[in-house]
Amino acid sequence: MTMLRIAVIVAVVLQVALARKFDVCSFARELRKHGIPNNHELNEWVCIAEHESGLNTRAVNHYNSDGSRDYGIFQINDRYWCEHGRSGKGCNVSCGDLINDNLAADIRCARHIKQVQGLSAWVAWNNKCAGRHIKDVSLAKKFTACELAKELRRLGASNNQELNELVCLAQKEGSFDTRTVKLVKNPQRYYDSHSYGIFQINDHVWCEHRKPGNICNVKCEDMLNDDISDDYKCAKYIKDSQGRSWHHLHENCSGKNAADVTKC
Ligand SMILES: *[C@@H]1O[C@H](CO)[C@@H](O)[C@H](O)[C@H]1NC(C)=O
Ligand SMILES: *[C@@H]1O[C@H](CO)[C@@H](O)[C@H](O)[C@H]1NC(C)=O
Repeated sequence: MTMLRIAVIVAVVLQVALARKFDVCSFARELRKHGIPNNHELNEWVCIAEHESGLNTRAVNHYNSDGSRDYGIFQINDRYWCEHGRSGKGCNVSCGDLINDNLAADIRCARHIKQVQGLSAWVAWNNKCAGRHIKDVSLAKKFTACELAKELRRLGASNNQELNELVCLAQKEGSFDTRTVKLVKNPQRYYDSHSYGIFQINDHVWCEHRKPGNICNVKCEDMLNDDISDDYKCAKYIKDSQGRSWHHLHENCSGKNAADVTKC
């Protein structure tokens, strides 16, 4: 039947037009826009969405063995989290709102599920993401000396000597690259450690993995993004309390040994 065929084709075209399939980078941008921090959490959501829905906002799966179905980019389940035709269940959301192109409800609900059940609520998390090196889509940045000087000044470094020393340190320790991770061998002791980011904040003493902690009360993973406000705070604390933590500070970056970036 021609009419039916046209109707079917129109429906298919409509479906395609309304669906949005993100690529990894545009999805990461969208998550950032909705307030997901540019760090490990961003990578987690991208990994889950990639393996749950193929980053398709309209994905609805076949029935699960209990007769429930999963909706949208994060494949959120209608047995526990969304209601049909009106807001309801755990996320107080309508399942329909999880398969449109507005990700606000999806993100709010996904974060709620994480809070209640943890990321292991997602099969894809357990099978494809947990304990693996997942894709890093967070923003990293390689600064120039002057860019870094300006950023540090914006963050409150007003003392000229401090500014010069920190920029010098960032060059010698982390090559101005926020993604720098180095293994620190410690022959005198029984453990090795790692240092993170442009100031090479060490995980033995200063930062903690996967949650804010250690002396600076920061997450080591957060030292690797382009937001260096937490790096700066921790570096300043270390410098003021225990400058010898950086080998370069005294010999290569103190006083006149540091290049002058105050004119930047
Ligand atoms: C659930 O959402 C609806 C509409 O979005 C709102 O009117 C209602 O107050 C919400 N209920 C709860 C318990 O938050
Ligand atoms: C100072 O810099 C030189 C040259 O890069 C290097 O060989 C030396 O080890 C540095 N000093 C310290 C204490 O790291």
